[in-house]
Amino acid sequence: MATALADVIAALKKESEVTVLSALIEVQEQLHYLPPESIPAVAELTGLSVNDVYTVATFYTHFRFSPPGEHVVEACWGPSCHLRGASEVMAAIEKAVGATFDSDTPDGKFTLRRLSCAGACGHGPVVVLDHKMRGNIGPADVTAFVEQARKSGGEHH
Ligand code: FES
Repeated sequence: MATALADVIAALKKESEVTVLSALIEVQEQLHYLPPESIPAVAELTGLSVNDVYTVATFYTHFRFSPPGEHVVEACWGPSCHLRGASEVMAAIEKAVGATFDSDTPDGKFTLRRLSCAGACGHGPVVVLDHKMRGNIGPADVTAFVEQARKSGGEHH
């Protein structure tokens, strides 16, 4: 069953120290995005204004305000992966799904995100598909895993 905002807020109320940032991170972690009603809820929780919370939420590009696609493809474009051919892999992913990085496909199937380092530099280029890390990915590997993801159900639904 999907986690509801009310459950996340109730859990945060039990924490000894909650900041606007930590609350927003937790909401996005649990719900995969910040629904509109989460902003006033976090404002009430932290005692700050809706405007203050909104300012924090829009400052960080990490936060998203609409649900992500069914499949999230994250590609590392850190220095090691870059040297090992990440650009070609990322171009192949964009071509295969029909969207550019840091955006979603119009059909809601895929969200493409860049990572600055996935922590597996020796195995680059690294791609994380639905939280599963894959190393030594080449442009030729992309079509297969995109097609596999397209056929399978989404992780968030
Ligand atoms: S630079 Fe890609 S995993 Fe570190």
